[in-house]
Amino acid sequence: MARVEGRYGLVYTTDRPESAARFDDLVSAYLGFGRDIGDRLKALQADDPDMPLAHVAKGYFLKLFGSAAMSARARKALGDADSRFAAVAATEREKLHLEALRAWCADDLDRTTDLWERILLDNPRDAFALRLAHFNHFYAGEGRRMRDSVARVLPDWQDSDPDIGFVHGMYGFALEESGDYARGERYGRMAVERNPADAWSVHAVAHVMEMQGRHAEGIAWVKRHEPAWSTTNNFRFHLYWHRALYHLERHELAEVLALYDDYVASDIAADMYLDVCNAASMLWRLEMYGADVGDRWKGLTEVSLRHVEDHDLIFVALHYLMALLKGGEPEAAARLAAQLEGFANSAATQGRVSARVGVGTAAAMTALANGDPGAAVDALLPIRYDIWCMGGSHAQRDLFEEMLVSAAVQARPQLARALLAERTAAKPASAWSWRNYAKALRAQGQGAAAEAAEKRAEALLAAA
Ligand SMILES: [Fe+2]
Repeated sequence: MARVEGRYGLVYTTDRPESAARFDDLVSAYLGFGRDIGDRLKALQADDPDMPLAHVAKGYFLKLFGSAAMSARARKALGDADSRFAAVAATEREKLHLEALRAWCADDLDRTTDLWERILLDNPRDAFALRLAHFNHFYAGEGRRMRDSVARVLPDWQDSDPDIGFVHGMYGFALEESGDYARGERYGRMAVERNPADAWSVHAVAHVMEMQGRHAEGIAWVKRHEPAWSTTNNFRFHLYWHRALYHLERHELAEVLALYDDYVASDIAADMYLDVCNAASMLWRLEMYGADVGDRWKGLTEVSLRHVEDHDLIFVALHYLMALLKGGEPEAAARLAAQLEGFANSAATQGRVSARVGVGTAAAMTALANGDPGAAVDALLPIRYDIWCMGGSHAQRDLFEEMLVSAAVQARPQLARALLAERTAAKPASAWSWRNYAKALRAQGQGAAAEAAEKRAEALLAAA
């Protein structure tokens, strides 16, 4: 089989010269959350069924769904890829991609990421490997690794490269997740200037604004670029989720519910895990803020019931659990929690995550749903500094801190006062935190301090 050079000097094994450019375009579509990724791959494979890397790509995209059902299909794609690779002399880069898919299918996420990083040493312009490594570092909670992964390849990208904006956006988001908000915002904005439809880069800046409590600016930022980024696939609902989160911070609950109905939960039936994470975490937060969410949990249970056995990502499984606990499916919730406990004995990367934080977080959420905030505190307090390892963003994982705080306010006022002293220091723009701080202070007989905290909350809400 012949070798064809594609964009960025990447070499593909194929007898069809046009397949290289089509593969490069597929990768660009993936970087841009294109709605036609599946169609592109199908068309490429229909015209070039023997291209070895296309089989690996199929396995990757199936694994990205993060579900047990799709993982089974990914293993089948791995088998097809193995047959193709056995019949051709593939490049070293392609062989490493095959091994990465194998490691991913074996649930060895650390090895999977290592293999992508190995590819990047020789091929720093392999944007597929870069974005996949970015994804895995993200779901390992490894902000610094995510940041350094992009920094290592940046010097090899040029301003004239069509995908450089995506690389800048990845760097921006990774900088934000490792706490460098100023540079994160700079790289994110640079990418959005180049391409306002680059949803990941819009998202990087949105995260900076969330972390810095710049809620009004965040709403304006997300709105300003909406005509462009709303053309992307279901990832767009995560940007609506971010906008809803700013409104929530401002206690604009009606606006949050409207965004929830119109966008965040509008395509739940598509069964994409990020949609469920967005929706479940927003409903849980809304209830903590005192909103009546009506029968909205019900809409999430149908999809979540299909994923009781899933543990591709513990972070995601916990969001299915939220929906089952709150949507009136206690038996399914108990089964999901039990399977997280069983999986905690596995040597798989996410099995270790389940053991470290998954089981405890599930126990805390179950206790909260059963009206036992004291038990929730007991389950969450010992693991709160390890929760990062389940991945997701700081903004997403903050939900678990909020759970701990609200459980403590109900059951352990002295601890609540301490936790909220900490939280208001870290998030001084959070009116919800100041309000809860006031409650905890009052419960401790500190009336004057409680009044001052309540005033801080009122001032923030009045300025919103
Ligand atoms: Fe986000």
